[in-house]
Amino acid sequence: MKLHPLPGTDLHLSTFCCGLGDLFALPQDESDNLLDAYIAAGGNFFDTAHMYSHWLPGGNGLSEISIGDYVRRRGLKDITIATKGGAKSSWRYRKVDHYLSPGRIAADIDDSLARLECDTISLYYLHGDDDRVPVAEIMDMLHAEIKLGRIRYLAASNWPVQRLAAANEYARAKNLQPFVLSSPRWSLAAHKIRPGLNAPEEAAWHRQTLLPVAPYCPTAKGLFAAESFPAEGDYNTPENHQRWNRVRELAHKHHVTPNQIALAWLLNHPFPVFPILGTKNTDRLKEALDTQQIQLTQPELAWLDHG
Ligand SMILES: NC(=O)c1ccc[n+]([C@@H]2O[C@H](COP(=O)([O-])OP(=O)(O)OC[C@H]3O[C@@H](n4cnc5c(N)ncnc54)[C@H](OP(=O)(O)O)[C@@H]3O)[C@@H](O)[C@H]2O)c1
Repeated sequence: MKLHPLPGTDLHLSTFCCGLGDLFALPQDESDNLLDAYIAAGGNFFDTAHMYSHWLPGGNGLSEISIGDYVRRRGLKDITIATKGGAKSSWRYRKVDHYLSPGRIAADIDDSLARLECDTISLYYLHGDDDRVPVAEIMDMLHAEIKLGRIRYLAASNWPVQRLAAANEYARAKNLQPFVLSSPRWSLAAHKIRPGLNAPEEAAWHRQTLLPVAPYCPTAKGLFAAESFPAEGDYNTPENHQRWNRVRELAHKHHVTPNQIALAWLLNHPFPVFPILGTKNTDRLKEALDTQQIQLTQPELAWLDHG
C-alpha cells in the first residue's frame, strides 16, 4: 500500500485506514488475522475512539485497549493510531452537556493514553462539533493539550466545513496548529439523513482547500456489494439506486467488483482521501485494499455520481 505524507505533519499514512469500531467483536485470533493482513499489505493507520466500542461486551475502551495490546504483541513501530474524544454521548459514560469542555476533553485524553499505554496520541480527533462553543475556545483548549505533549496533531470528525474553515483560520492567525484531517461520513452513495461530504458544498470546500479526508462508512455498509439494491434502509433513494446500477456496469467493464469501483471513486479526488475500512472479513479487506490498482477516467468518475 502506498504511504502519503499528511500535509502539515511528519506523518506518512497508508491509503486505507483500518477502522476499529466493530473489529474487536471478533475472537482475538480472528481480529489478529485481519490486522496481520492489513499490516502485511503495508497498512499503518488505525481509527479508534474513546467511546468504541460501547455497544459491544467490553464497552467503552474495548477498541483502544485491544489495538494497543495488538501493537505491543506484534512489536509494531511507525504506525499511527488516531483516536477521538469529546463524543456527545456514550453509554455508561460521563453525562455532561458540555462535551467539548476542556475538562471533558482532558478526561477523555487521560483515559485514551492509559488504554493505549502511550504518552502521546499522534493524531487526535474531536468526535463531533458543538456550535455552542466558539472555535477559538476549542482551538485554545487543544493547543494546551499539545503543549502538554499529550496529543500531537489535530483532526475533526463530523464537523461542517464552515466550522473547520473558521477553526483553521483562527489557528493560523494565532500561530497554533490547525486541523490537518477531517473525517466525515462519505461514500459514493449519499446517506438519507446525514449526508456528510455528499453535500455538494462540503466536497467543493475540500476541492478548494485540499484538506485531506478520512471518510467513514466508505462502502455505505457494503451497499454496492449487495446482490440486489435494498428495499429499505439509510441508503434507499432513487439516486443511490441509479448509482448502484452504474457501479455494476463499470465493475463489469473493468473486471473488478462493485465495491472496488465504489472505493476507487473515493480515492480519485483531487484532495488526499484515506477511506476507513470497517469490514471484519479478511478476504473483503484484501479485496478493498486492491482497489488502489484501479484507474478510472474523469468521465467515468463523473458518470458514477451523476449519470
Ligand atoms: N467518526 C465517526 O463518527 C465514525 C462513525 C462510524 C464509523 N467510523 C469509523 O469508520 C470505520 C468504518 O465505518 P463502517 O464500518 O461504517 O464502514 P463501511 O465499510 O461503510 O461498513 C462496514 C459494514 O459493511 C460491510 N461490508 C463492507 N464491505 C463489504 C463487502 N465487500 N461485502 C459485503 N459487506 C461489506 C461490513 O460487513 P463485514 O464485516 O461482514 O464485511 C460491515 O458490516 C469504523 O470502523 C470506525 O472506525 C467513524
